[in-house]
Amino acid sequence: MYTKYYRVDPVCPDAAMLAEAAALLRQGELVAFPTETVYGLGANGLDAAAVKRIFQAKGRPADNPLILHIADADKLAELAAAVPASARALVECYWPGPLTVVVERQGHVPDAVTGGLNTVAVRLPSSPVARELIRLAGIPVAAPSANTSGRPSPTTAQDVLADLEGKIAAVIDAGPCDIGVESTVIDCTTPVPTLLRPGGITYEMLIAVLGDIEVDPALDGAKTVPKSPGMKYTHYAPAAPLTLIEAEPVRSAGLLIGEINKALTAGKTVGAIVSAELADSVPPAVMTAVYGSRADAAAVAANLYTVLRSFDDKAVDVIYAEGIAEQGLGLAVMNRLRKAAGYRILR
Ligand code: TXA
Ligand code: MG
Repeated sequence: MYTKYYRVDPVCPDAAMLAEAAALLRQGELVAFPTETVYGLGANGLDAAAVKRIFQAKGRPADNPLILHIADADKLAELAAAVPASARALVECYWPGPLTVVVERQGHVPDAVTGGLNTVAVRLPSSPVARELIRLAGIPVAAPSANTSGRPSPTTAQDVLADLEGKIAAVIDAGPCDIGVESTVIDCTTPVPTLLRPGGITYEMLIAVLGDIEVDPALDGAKTVPKSPGMKYTHYAPAAPLTLIEAEPVRSAGLLIGEINKALTAGKTVGAIVSAELADSVPPAVMTAVYGSRADAAAVAANLYTVLRSFDDKAVDVIYAEGIAEQGLGLAVMNRLRKAAGYRILR
């Protein structure tokens, strides 16, 4: 399949191009599009056959449900069987934006979207390109991140094409995404809303509206070394195995340089993902990617997936990454780094 390419302005996108892409969506085709978080792989969210093509193109397990993207907050009530007060309060504050609410679904939402669950995840993105595309399509748009399953999410159209060229009908390029990590996913069907995935709307911002939230135990589990060390669950991962260093900055530097030197002595080709603060301490033989200042979690988030992808074309045997503090967007950054590391963590 030939993948059509549309280049648009991120703020004032060309209406004719978006209309063409919206028509493709209505015809059941796959269209990758930018959002403020990452690029999404869109399909008509009410057309089960179109939605199934998303899973094929990505190689995604069918039981991992998709987010439905809408262009107008009123549409939530057309997808949800009920909108709990918590969801109402959250979307009032943070829509349009990087927030996904999980609510009970209505019967017409296809099983292909929800993975057979009785709930549906809904998001209203703030990106003008995403919103205008969805509005023109006139349907809820099902969209996971537009990467091959397991790979780092795409934050540019070039990342999308690297994974999916020839497998999708079109890609809309509006330049790099602002936030760089995915939306926050919060389950509003539990008595106390439950954070399922940290993202663009921070924990602190959720607490400010709701007072109290639960955190999915699977996320807490991610902070500890897994009980089964053989567990190979990786996600957002570069090609070479990655080990994450999680400690205070001084201890982190010691651990990181120590591990790097051991690997170099063993004759390995080594990659490092580090803060600007630590970059100069990394031995020159190491291929180093810098994610920015560790004091600026938003900048780290914006650079994270590009840095993870930067090792794709480099023949490194192992990669070591320096962690950052979990405040603000740091929580989402550390969640993604732990998954990219398959929970190989040194403390
Ligand atoms: O920022 C984002 O959310 C991006 C852009 C494209 O909008 N999309 C994205 O989609 O990250 P995806 O498919 O890569 O991640 C969706 C997450 C998954 O962790 C999925 O398990 C969860 O949302 N999810 C979707 N529906 C759910 C449901 N009904 N209940 C619980 N979790 C759900
Ligand atoms: Mg994804």
